[in-house]
Amino acid sequence: MSYKERIDTGKLPQHVAIIMDGNGRWAKQRGEHRVAGHQHGVTSVRETVEAAAEIGIQYLTLYAFSTENWNRPKEEVFALMQLLVSTIHSEVKTLNENDIRLLAIGDLKSLPEDCWKELKEAMQATSGNKRMNLVLALSYSSRWEIIEAVKNIVSDLEEGKFSSKEITEQQFEHYLCTAGFPEPELMIRTSGEHRISNFLLWQLSYSELYFTDKLWPDFRKEDFYEAIVDYQGRERRFGKISEQVSE
Ligand code: FPP
Repeated sequence: MSYKERIDTGKLPQHVAIIMDGNGRWAKQRGEHRVAGHQHGVTSVRETVEAAAEIGIQYLTLYAFSTENWNRPKEEVFALMQLLVSTIHSEVKTLNENDIRLLAIGDLKSLPEDCWKELKEAMQATSGNKRMNLVLALSYSSRWEIIEAVKNIVSDLEEGKFSSKEITEQQFEHYLCTAGFPEPELMIRTSGEHRISNFLLWQLSYSELYFTDKLWPDFRKEDFYEAIVDYQGRERRFGKISEQVSE
């Protein structure tokens, strides 16, 4: 039986987040340039988006470029940005045909002008789509996001919009890039690294973490479904005891 057939569609996570890791190592193993790894990674992005939409996932967040990635060699950053621009441009039609909305989180204003323009247009062109939200984390880091939230809260406090006593977890969440999204129930990281790497630190508080040794360019639909099946076999207790959650 395939992993897809083993999925209980009544117990799907609403939101799956993925750290797509291992492109560089994939390329190195083949004696190719790191950029070739990123290029092949686009096939895995397509497969994963299709896989998630096919079973009814509502939010899929992909960590495509971190704040720290700006420190990579200039040629690699440039190639990644070009790849983003061309991929977003060529995928808009497919996103619309499949009723998928494109969203982005991160310091989007720091992106090169052409990348930001392409992204804005694609988000606009897909804004009416309802089947699934595909969220790209671009120039994103969780610490950056939290500091931005704090700055905006302080500014609203100074303007007297609310008092410090009114700050709750729910209120704080309104200031995050993911405001209005459900929390990811499942976070997948490829390439055998067991780290969160400044990704959705607040939002992943209760997420199930799934690690696979597969390098991102080798990740296919069945690998995604395997992660979902693994998630469905876990017991989520949110700090309670087993008997309380199985009642
Ligand atoms: C991590 O592998 C991957 C990235 C930093 C980039 C991910 C980007 C893509 C797959 C391209 C396009 C994406 C979209 C959404 C259009 P790494 O370079 O850190 O690999 P390494 O750890 O083996 O060096």
